[in-house]
Amino acid sequence: MFRRLATALGASQAARELRWMRAAAAVAGATDLDAMVARRVRGEPLQYILGTQPFGPLNLLARPPVLIPRPETEHWVTKLADSLAPSVHNPVSLLDLGTGSGCIPLLLCHLWPPGTVRAHAVDISPHALRLAQDNAALCGISSRLCDPKTPHNTFSVSTANLLAHDFAETASRIHSSYDIITSNPPYIPWKEYLELSRSVINFEDPKALFGGPSGLEFYHAIARFVSSKNILKPDALVALEVGHDQASTVESIMLATGKFQRTEIWLDPWGKRRTVIARTRADIL
Ligand SMILES: C[S@@+](CC[C@H](N)C(=O)[O-])C[C@H]1O[C@@H](n2cnc3c(N)ncnc32)[C@H](O)[C@@H]1O
Repeated sequence: MFRRLATALGASQAARELRWMRAAAAVAGATDLDAMVARRVRGEPLQYILGTQPFGPLNLLARPPVLIPRPETEHWVTKLADSLAPSVHNPVSLLDLGTGSGCIPLLLCHLWPPGTVRAHAVDISPHALRLAQDNAALCGISSRLCDPKTPHNTFSVSTANLLAHDFAETASRIHSSYDIITSNPPYIPWKEYLELSRSVINFEDPKALFGGPSGLEFYHAIARFVSSKNILKPDALVALEVGHDQASTVESIMLATGKFQRTEIWLDPWGKRRTVIARTRADIL
């Protein structure tokens, strides 16, 4: 078993992964370690085999074909949580576009104090929405205000197509306007999609990755969306993860809407320009 894994991954990585798979197999009881190793040797991402992926302090469920949350996403979401201080007296409404596992809004709901955020998430994939709901249950975040006397954050999901011409109407039916919009949309252009590793192409949903021929299709859709009347509250913030060379272009796309007075580009842990932050007012935090 070890030899098969080591041939695929190298000895030290194989030893580490075998330890994790043994632990997961022991917890799952019936799960066959041999079958887990065979899946890994075929190139399946370890997170799908173990069934979980840490994301900040959360340990989220991971299930194919929903995109596995990435460390660069965890990094900017943690920074966003640290840079805003929503209050229980004025809870923020948040919309996450293309939520996948729900990692972005669920981490914010976890990190911000109870009663400070009403998060909504949309995705086109039913697999993603099911996983996001399962993750919310795992994190103890409910979809509704059950007891208005006990402050708590809420997270709900809906199926929606961000590229549809009537998406703004759909979103404004969920909540009339938003303080915060977050998204890690599909942004890989054709050329780069073909160069992705086999474990990504063969197992993760292409719809979660491919951002149209230029990779920018979803940012243009988000720009149209935030330009819709009353979608953004007066003191709103939009946070968008972008591909390694897209930050300046996406910043220009957001500025061209005329909705934002200030933008910033945040670096990922490896120094790449990976998050565009746009604020409707220059003087808000
Ligand atoms: C890059 S993944 C991000 C998932 C998650 N937010 C994360 O950071 O791990 C993009 C997500 O957008 C969703 N998506 C793709 N096309 C969409 C569309 N037209 N409308 C809404 N969601 C879409 C995919 O299903 C996928 O879950």
